[in-house]
Amino acid sequence: MAEFAELNVDGKNYKLPIVEGTEQERGFDISKLRAESGLITLDTGFKNTGSTKSAVTFLDGEKGILRYRGYPIEQLAEKSTFLEVAYLLIYGELPSGQELYDFKSEIKKHQLVHEDMKTILQGFPSNAHPMGVLSSLATSLTAFFPESLDPNRSPEQINLTIIRLLAKIPTLVAWSYTNARGIQANYPNNNLEYVSNFLKMMFDTPNEEYEVDPNVLEAMEKIFILHADHEQNCSTSTVRFVGSSQANLYASVAAGINALWGPLHGGANQKVIEMLQNIKNNGGDTKKFLDKAKDPNDPFRLMGFGHRVYKNFDPRALILKKRADKILERLGVDDPELEIAKKLEEAALKDDYFVERKLYPNVDFYSGIIMNAIGIPVDMFPVMFTIGRLPGWIAQWKEMRLHKEPIGRPRQIYVGSPERPYVEISDRS
Ligand code: CMC
Repeated sequence: MAEFAELNVDGKNYKLPIVEGTEQERGFDISKLRAESGLITLDTGFKNTGSTKSAVTFLDGEKGILRYRGYPIEQLAEKSTFLEVAYLLIYGELPSGQELYDFKSEIKKHQLVHEDMKTILQGFPSNAHPMGVLSSLATSLTAFFPESLDPNRSPEQINLTIIRLLAKIPTLVAWSYTNARGIQANYPNNNLEYVSNFLKMMFDTPNEEYEVDPNVLEAMEKIFILHADHEQNCSTSTVRFVGSSQANLYASVAAGINALWGPLHGGANQKVIEMLQNIKNNGGDTKKFLDKAKDPNDPFRLMGFGHRVYKNFDPRALILKKRADKILERLGVDDPELEIAKKLEEAALKDDYFVERKLYPNVDFYSGIIMNAIGIPVDMFPVMFTIGRLPGWIAQWKEMRLHKEPIGRPRQIYVGSPERPYVEISDRS
């Protein structure tokens, strides 16, 4: 196998070392190219650019493979719990019974949030999007833990921030939900497991206790596991990028929440249900919406379809698709949106436009349907994605810091005006 790629520009030869990963993925290292040649590489949207070497998650988009720390997503979704997966991502190995117990105990200790957070929350209008509220609250944690601003904190101190984030984000999510509805906030209950505790904080009301249905619990555990990491996606790259300036972990995660919010990323699950409801309200005409998605002059896209990396199938969508029917049946939910989704998927998978572009349902296509069926409000879908993705962001941020990666700072090819003299205001037309 070649050790170098050779680049010939204007008769000069440059040797670019080949880098190979554990799964034989190959790339060439261009980090010295500019110094040697003055050349940069151009790749808008980083479609074919590796930003780091990472040991957290492996993904093969052609074969539909996703593994966290080497473990196949199918096995983790089947056998693990969300907190075990969080531990695996953050610390690199599945926890022993004792390690898991200690991890859970540490998280329980930190689930309460400062009462003054309520004052911040009350400042938001009740119709504020929960992702904006959550990213603000995540940033606010820096005010309550100002020591986190020190970039030279010890691994133990950083670990405390990690535990605090895992512990407090579900409480903040639940409080932002109850606050927006004008209901009193619920406090964490240390006798409950992580996901049950979260669901109770969300849905308990002063006049009615929320019973956690085991089917709902299982569905949320799976959704969180399937979202827990996805290598260098937009929000994760944002978290690493922001962290590379030595911004603290709370601030880096808050930036990740904002990146995830976009409808092309974690905001897609909300848009999927809104699209299916729109199709239903338009008489269930899936063809009309497929045609709109194919029209190059129409900005509409089939939400929950397509992926930058998966070009055959999204293994997370397969797992959720298999479960969607079962979960809905067990919950006794007859969801017209699921029928529309199936019709839409079937038609798209036969359509040349989608086949040629390798556009398949992604994880958001089915997660939205399941969350809708279990009573999660639609605007909270991206927030559920956030809780799921949190361990991945933390693991990737930690890795970036451990590797002492330099500040992220891409180059550009400037295409603006050449130098020109300043024009006085009186001389401008
Ligand atoms: N509906 C219709 N056409 C599409 C779609 C879609 N959902 N996705 C891609 N295309 C077309 C696109 O118009 C382009 O066509 P052409 O070659 O004629 O210009 C071609 O497919 C390639 O698309 P692209 O935008 O260059 O691909 P990308 O890799 O930059 O974008 C994507 C990936 C996920 C942003 C995109 O597929 C999309 O917008 N999907 C809908 C939003 C969505 O479901 N996002 C959730 C992603 S999975 C969860 C996560 O990890 O965030």
